[in-house]
Amino acid sequence: MSKLKKALEKARLSREGIPEPETGAEKTTEDEEFHPRVSCEINPIYVHTKIQNIDYRKLVDQRIISIHHCNAVSDCFKLLRTQVLSLLREQGNNCILITSANRREGRTTTAINLAVSMAQQLDNTVLLVDSDFKEPAIHRILGLSMEQGLSDCLLGKATIEETLINPGINRLVVLPGGRPIPNSAEILGSPRTETIFRELKERYGDRYVIFDSPPLLASADSLILSDYADAILLVVEAERTTKNDLLRTRDLLGGKPVIGTIFTKVRQ
Ligand SMILES: Nc1ncnc2c1ncn2[C@@H]1O[C@H](COP(=O)(O)OP(=O)(O)OP(=O)(O)O)[C@@H](O)[C@H]1O
Ligand SMILES: [Mg+2]
Repeated sequence: MSKLKKALEKARLSREGIPEPETGAEKTTEDEEFHPRVSCEINPIYVHTKIQNIDYRKLVDQRIISIHHCNAVSDCFKLLRTQVLSLLREQGNNCILITSANRREGRTTTAINLAVSMAQQLDNTVLLVDSDFKEPAIHRILGLSMEQGLSDCLLGKATIEETLINPGINRLVVLPGGRPIPNSAEILGSPRTETIFRELKERYGDRYVIFDSPPLLASADSLILSDYADAILLVVEAERTTKNDLLRTRDLLGGKPVIGTIFTKVRQ
């Protein structure tokens, strides 16, 4: 890239409040407290959180738009964030599950965009948890390298602290999925899982937790996960999710706190 192009790009990132991507080795805060790279706040809970600086320019290709201010999509996420936060605060809750009826309807993209948008609010710390055990994808979409994740914690092979990653976005912490586990429903039903999910949800009262999950109609996982959620957002894909899918989903989630639907892939 020419010097002029570099300077223009730098000015654009600075204008939009986006930190410049850094190259080089992954950093780990070992004995220090966690210092998000662009934040002056110190959150003492993330003592061992790894910091991996992601390439913000590639996020747009993955439809992670809410990192940029001043566009129609990020405005939609700001509206969604406001509605979700006001409801959670009203109820004194902190935990949201993003689910949908079928695969590929846009759950993970929605979960990441909402998490980024929530973390951009100055007073929120957000933990984004990849609990799609069969096809974890948050690390791939964000461009994070993942050694371990939630599945390793559930299998007793890692601790939560060892697996958390700060992607260089203030107040956002990602718990990646880890290696895929085929018998996830059995593991999800175990007492160890219950302890870990309670820990994620309850250890830090001022932290919001967003769970990305597998599709409801494809496995029992999301239904089990929904027991831990204070609020459920249902992703519905335009021109694909059928009425019958939604009726089945509604029946499965009967009595659970579904707070709204998010319509994805709508054509102008
Ligand atoms: N609002 C949207 N508009 C257009 N395309 C979208 C939207 N949300 C997601 N997509 C695209 O749809 C595809 C599936 O998205 P995503 O991975 O978020 O869905 P998912 O429901 O989590 O899928 P999976 O079942 O594989 O976990 C991706 O190519 C993504 O870029
Ligand atoms: Mg997904």
